[in-house]
Amino acid sequence: MDGRVAVGRTGPLLLGEVGEGEWVVGGVGARRLAREYGTPLYIMDEARLRANCRAYVTALRDAYPNSQAVFASKALCCMAVCRLAYDEGMWIDVVSTGEIRTALRAGVPAGALLLHGSNKTAEELTVALEAGVGRIVVDNVHDLDLLDSLTRESRRRADVLLRLTPGIEPHTHKAIVTGGVDSKFGLGIVDGSAREGVRRAMEIPGLRLRGIHCHIGSQVMELRPFEIAAEAMMEFAAWMARDLGVRVEELDLGGGLGIRYLPEDEPPAIRDYVSTLARIVKERAASAGLPLPTLLVEPGRSIVGDAGATLYTVGAVKRITGIRTYVSVDGGMYENPRPALYQARYEAVLAGRLNEPTDQTVTIAGRCCESGDILIWDAVLPEPRSGDLLAVFSTGAYNYAMAGNYNRYPRPPIIFVRDGRARVIVNRETVDDLLAKDVPPA
Ligand code: LLP
Repeated sequence: MDGRVAVGRTGPLLLGEVGEGEWVVGGVGARRLAREYGTPLYIMDEARLRANCRAYVTALRDAYPNSQAVFASKALCCMAVCRLAYDEGMWIDVVSTGEIRTALRAGVPAGALLLHGSNKTAEELTVALEAGVGRIVVDNVHDLDLLDSLTRESRRRADVLLRLTPGIEPHTHKAIVTGGVDSKFGLGIVDGSAREGVRRAMEIPGLRLRGIHCHIGSQVMELRPFEIAAEAMMEFAAWMARDLGVRVEELDLGGGLGIRYLPEDEPPAIRDYVSTLARIVKERAASAGLPLPTLLVEPGRSIVGDAGATLYTVGAVKRITGIRTYVSVDGGMYENPRPALYQARYEAVLAGRLNEPTDQTVTIAGRCCESGDILIWDAVLPEPRSGDLLAVFSTGAYNYAMAGNYNRYPRPPIIFVRDGRARVIVNRETVDDLLAKDVPPA
């Protein structure tokens, strides 16, 4: 299985390799990482991250004449990652002033930013217009009203895409389905709001309607829903051409490609996903007699997810005879809320004991004050001991990005590893950072 090493019953390692029983990632051993940077620690394998960006950029280049890959920075927004994605040829999808400023501070030009958001504020839109972001993706009529008045006042113009909801429901967790009819996102194709949105957008002098966008959901493990969405979008483009004489110059089909969290997961390959989208758009453009639009995709998870892992230290081990063993680590739902939020499942190894047989099924617990703070219900490991290092895989997406400070735990740092070297890209938060926001009592 593409060069990955088998480890006990748990199957192949999802990232890195085995060096004398120790987990080694980016050429750096887990023990050294723990010693130098402490735990919990978010680790990003820079080579895998770059390879994921390149997989999109080259697959698009090979399958389609004019295209642009866009990194959905919500999956992992920090300066180093935005800059890396841009350097690899991607634009950056941002949804807030915070994400806009992170990308700009990292040196990404405003023209390579694409602004999303289902409830953009006047302040965010003003920041975007003043910076000159490349595209604003209009989600609803409220966006159009705000942009109408803001572009008049500032005499600026904006290139916009309209976010449409094609009415597709892929099989993923209900909290991360976005493209169905009953969705808070976008202008519905089915109920006619999309048509109204196009007409309204064209009346606003400060807007240049460049095209249309959809995003059907996240962690989608099959290609069929993407095909159906692409077909629906091309049908809409044909209607725009026919009834309004408006050309869709750009078609953004969003993100959503799933990744491998468990060894048995089989997500479609990036190349197959991209070539499927490219094929549908080309076919439909030809049959409707439309010029080919520029094709955009907006992956987040499949750029950063499998390039990341989290390293923990085991503390308390509680054995309840005949029931379960709880193995507590020094992180938890404050730095990975996905198991608690989505019943997400992860794979783990004891990072210093990879050559030992995995003969125990244990429950990996976080340290937050809730019974629900369980990272993995059924990890298969060698008998864990206090002081062991535990690595959890595929944590690069929506972990740091969604981390919080429950129980006043400071967020872990992020490091890049590559060619035997490690470097900090986000510093460890400290309790003093948290206290700095408090106003001390008089
Ligand atoms: N484009 C738009 C408009 C989006 O809303 C998203 C993700 C993406 C692109 C990137 O999708 P991806 O390729 O990462 O699937 N917190 C959830 C995932 C929420 C996804 C939100 N939108 C999780 O941890 O599973």
